[in-house]
Amino acid sequence: MGGKLESFGLGLRTEHYRDFLAAPQAVDWLELISENYLVAGGKPLYFLDRIRQDYPMVLHGVSLSIGSSDPLDAGYLRELRGLVDRVEPAWVSDHLCWTGTRSLNLHDLLPLPYTEETLRHLVPRVAQVQDALGQALLLENVSSYVRYLADEMSEWEFIRELVGRTGCELLLDVNNVYVSSVNHGFDPRVFIDAVPVEAVRQIHLAGHEDHGDYLIDTHDHPVCTAVWDLYAYTIGRLGPVATMIERDDHIPSLAELVGELDSARSLARRALATRKQAA
Ligand SMILES: [Fe+2]
Repeated sequence: MGGKLESFGLGLRTEHYRDFLAAPQAVDWLELISENYLVAGGKPLYFLDRIRQDYPMVLHGVSLSIGSSDPLDAGYLRELRGLVDRVEPAWVSDHLCWTGTRSLNLHDLLPLPYTEETLRHLVPRVAQVQDALGQALLLENVSSYVRYLADEMSEWEFIRELVGRTGCELLLDVNNVYVSSVNHGFDPRVFIDAVPVEAVRQIHLAGHEDHGDYLIDTHDHPVCTAVWDLYAYTIGRLGPVATMIERDDHIPSLAELVGELDSARSLARRALATRKQAA
């Protein structure tokens, strides 16, 4: 699996372990939530090792807290490196966020102030993680519900700067772009237009909860029409990018998720055909 393959994956969830072992599935690769496998043994690692024989994998973390003012957790980075050595993932991602400070974990992926000061704070931290992992880190844009009075630039300007200064790569969550665009009132296509094309290695698609004038990123619904449209626009701009569907709650059968992934495949194919014609 390379950086720009037209391939389609799913998050590996315990509910589907046995399905993946029982029969080949129309899924090109699987994404693991890293923290679920930072254990000494037991069921998760047993299934991981067996399923890994048949599927390429990528790692996706939720507790790096790259933006926190606390020092990075060296023990966590050591354990993560151990998992990298075990799984040999195509890449490793986490979120462009903070999850707590002063050793308090808020268990949420909180947005950062988009300032020069935050950029200066992040640059050595991203380098520390990339050194610890021995490879580039992918950072994912989070969905957000608040912004800071201190913001000096837009989220997309901030991301462009960060990529330029650190060499990190991107996991572009199209649903998160859409959720934040509704919550903050910007055009999601402006965000997509500004993303540094060469840095995007992976795309997330997911469903959210619609509360009328605001959206909550719940990962418990199928992908909605507006997010499909934005995905088609994104592929039209970026070209082929490895894409997956995230589902973390109300997890349906694997067959249903594979069907939704097929929709992503068809849509990407159409968007790429249109892109080729326009070129
Ligand atoms: Fe995501």
